[in-house]
Amino acid sequence: MRRKLIAGNWKMNLTALEARAMLATLRANIDKDSAALAKDRDILVAPATILIPAVSQALAGSSIALGAQNMHFEDKGAFTGEVSPAMIRPYGVTHVILGHSERRHIFGERDDLINRKVLAALKHRIVPILCVGETQEERDAGRTLEVVGRQTEAGLAGVNAEAAEKIVLADEPVWAIGTGRTATPGQAQEVHGSIREILRDRLGKEAGDKVRVLYGGSVTAENVDSLVSKPDIDGALVGGASLK
Ligand code: PGA
Repeated sequence: MRRKLIAGNWKMNLTALEARAMLATLRANIDKDSAALAKDRDILVAPATILIPAVSQALAGSSIALGAQNMHFEDKGAFTGEVSPAMIRPYGVTHVILGHSERRHIFGERDDLINRKVLAALKHRIVPILCVGETQEERDAGRTLEVVGRQTEAGLAGVNAEAAEKIVLADEPVWAIGTGRTATPGQAQEVHGSIREILRDRLGKEAGDKVRVLYGGSVTAENVDSLVSKPDIDGALVGGASLK
């Protein structure tokens, strides 16, 4: 009942030239030869912000959706180096990755800031892909569900049931990102199941069941099928493998 979403997070990779070449290949596979493939799932690419105009152009008429990797929560103002939702929306950006672990751990983004961005995305009719995930240390201490629960609750503060169809969650264990160590389908399902409970509690059962919860962290062509076969894993947020 929940349509799968496969999202490529390109991170800080590809020049405009390389991105165009990549999209030509992707479109040849998805838009033309394998129309059936695109019918049963949503596909999205999230390029670096500077590439958004070029990617938007290269995706014209495509079934592939365009996402951003981050944004500020204000429409405009004195925020040197930042980009606003109002600036990216006109390029056909329909999704934005927020609270990615690299934003949290390298750039110090906290739950309250991420929540402001989630609310700003909804205001601009951009679907926030709210990322949550525990570190290795937190997992070892048996705190996975507590940490992921806190990040989910805080990130969704002020989001109501009507917005349920317009949000996506992404469970990305920090220890699995870019490490080649994927969570087992069982480990991921446990976390996704607990996120689903929180969503049902907060938004009501019907709305909570509509929210897609993606898995991210060393997803590859080899392991994606077993992950998305689990009941609460509604797709994947793919980093490294999305560049191939
Ligand atoms: P990875 O990254 O697939 O390279 O582990 C996933 C992500 O950070 O979204």
